[in-house]
Amino acid sequence: MFKLLYDLFEKELKPLQIVNKKYEIQKLLGKGSYGLTYLVKNLEHNTYAVLKQNRKRKRSKGKESFRNEASMLRKLKHHSIPNLYDIFEWEDSIFLVLERKEGWTVEQLIFEKGKQYDELDAFTLLRQVLKVVAFIHKQGIVHLDLRTPNILFDNNKVHIIDFGLAKYISNHSNKGKNMWKRPVVENDLYELGHFTLFLLYSSFNPDPDGKKKDSWLNELSLQPESKTIVKRLLQLEKPYQSASEVIADIDRFLDKSNKESAAEQELFEVSDARE
Ligand SMILES: Nc1ncnc2c1ncn2[C@@H]1O[C@H](COP(=O)(O)OP(=O)(O)O)[C@@H](O)[C@H]1O
Ligand SMILES: [Mg+2]
Repeated sequence: MFKLLYDLFEKELKPLQIVNKKYEIQKLLGKGSYGLTYLVKNLEHNTYAVLKQNRKRKRSKGKESFRNEASMLRKLKHHSIPNLYDIFEWEDSIFLVLERKEGWTVEQLIFEKGKQYDELDAFTLLRQVLKVVAFIHKQGIVHLDLRTPNILFDNNKVHIIDFGLAKYISNHSNKGKNMWKRPVVENDLYELGHFTLFLLYSSFNPDPDGKKKDSWLNELSLQPESKTIVKRLLQLEKPYQSASEVIADIDRFLDKSNKESAAEQELFEVSDARE
């Protein structure tokens, strides 16, 4: 009840409102648990950027996550990761200004645009994401929130956003309790296992006779190589140790699938010529 009232009073910024004399709100892009994200116009440079505002209700946690995101972005200079332009406090909120990346989130592509990923599409996209993830890991950082709303896709290009939960990779293996979201590479790879399942389910048609099979393993009729990749990402089989190890397996799988489809194509052409 109080939470509801608080949310009502915690008004989002409205289009044309100006923040810190410089950023004119264009529209709301997203509402997460820690913050509100807007598309803004920088009135000094006449350019567009993304502005993230922390939620006042989550003040201390939100501020911490924003400061963390800023320090991670400063370390991660890559064309597939937004540049951090500024961090400032204004009217009791903390704001991050980020480079605006083009594209839709993979979540929007699936749920709003009706995009369907078949096996080849899914692994091609996963490979692109893993290339950026390998760079992040090389800098000693894990993202820890690699979900469909945090991956943008446009014009064959992938961008990874939302580094609020990112952490430095821990050297000692603190197994046991709190395994989830430990700052280790395997956790990013595990999340990418779920990401891949999301992609694959976008093109899944349930059995028309309504019979439910026991698990995704049987439900999605995957080729053996790609099934193994997903199982190893999800740690159901020998877990992968690095992003590049996964990329190598995807390359073998894509290479084989491409050769098979080329061979099929040839067969078609031969039978066409005979007719
Ligand atoms: N750099 C960016 N370029 C374009 N869109 C962005 C960018 N950063 C965030 N967005 C959009 O805003 C949404 C929320 O941003 P995000 O950083 O994921 O914050 P949250 O912590 O609220 O999830 C994203 O899902 C995406 O649609
Ligand atoms: Mg997000």
